[in-house]
Amino acid sequence: MIGDKKIVFSGVQPSGNLTIGNYLGAIKNFSRFSEDYKTFYCVVDLHAITVRQVPAELRRRTYETLALYMACGLDEKKNTLFVQSHVPAHAELGWMLDCYTMFGELSRMTQFKDKSQKHSQNINAGLFTYPTLMAADILLYQTDIVPVGVDQRQHLELARDIGMRFNQIYGDTFTIPEGYMSTDTMKIMSLAEPTSKMSKSDTNQNAVVYILDSKDDVMRKFKKAVTDSEACVRYSEDKPGVSNLMSIYRAFTGKSFEEIEREFDGKGYGDFKMAVGEACADGLAPVRDEFARLMADKAHLEAVMKAGADEAAYFARKTMSKVRRKIGFVN
Ligand code: TYM
Repeated sequence: MIGDKKIVFSGVQPSGNLTIGNYLGAIKNFSRFSEDYKTFYCVVDLHAITVRQVPAELRRRTYETLALYMACGLDEKKNTLFVQSHVPAHAELGWMLDCYTMFGELSRMTQFKDKSQKHSQNINAGLFTYPTLMAADILLYQTDIVPVGVDQRQHLELARDIGMRFNQIYGDTFTIPEGYMSTDTMKIMSLAEPTSKMSKSDTNQNAVVYILDSKDDVMRKFKKAVTDSEACVRYSEDKPGVSNLMSIYRAFTGKSFEEIEREFDGKGYGDFKMAVGEACADGLAPVRDEFARLMADKAHLEAVMKAGADEAAYFARKTMSKVRRKIGFVN
């Protein structure tokens, strides 16, 4: 708690162009906490270098991710928006927590297994200890709530375990966080392969809708989306393509699944896909416009980053001095 407010923390990696999965699963939910919670939203650039990045692109995407936070409705006066590497306490606590995290725990992380398959030439130690850094991000701010997509659930569980372990050894030090997953959109699937997650690192450009895609691109991708041969708009586990499109349509229009089924009763998938494309493109249009406006003023973005980092560092310092004392470091 800060004052009478619970604390919210989340982060997005500046490691690729952000997708509607990132938007619907995470960022769109962030602003619902702005009024009544103390919120920290971080561009987690330290996490991004677990996979090789082109320096100029990493820098550009860091600005872009911050601008997207703001374009998605996060007011910098109501939310602490900052860049992870600007607050060195993340790396510092990350190291300390490495010493309270077991090799076996990290070996079980499915994202590590996936990513080490994908990047078999670069299975670095950071990729392995990535979840400990994520735990540090969260525990550093005494976070109560972490809004994320379902792919981060295992990491979040580990953050809780590490926090509890530390508390057990040293007495109450960290708040143990809870995840917040919006059931409708916690896992947006690939349009080409609807049984796997839509991912910003997918090489198939038709599989992924980016937040900043033009309307033409959005329409084209939805037109090509994989469905099934039943030609019936109905939500069902054995219809992953159609169900995914229905989830996306619901998220952008607010209509229920029953309403959507009625709306497309007797109509083919062609009409349905066009409607989903329209709703998505129209929903993203204001974000795109606002993003362009924000990116034109780099100085303002830098001022936001700076103010955010100062604010975050203030709260991080409080936790760090407690942690140092508990572990036994000389002050
Ligand atoms: P990242 O950058 O991969 O994704 C950012 C957020 O988007 C969510 N997400 C999705 N949600 C629904 N459907 C999808 N297809 C989809 N794809 C991505 C992710 O769940 C995430 O919430 N490890 C984190 C970043 C991180 C973090 C943190 C998050 C670092 N430290 C501390 C929370 C708290 C990650 O790689 O997210």
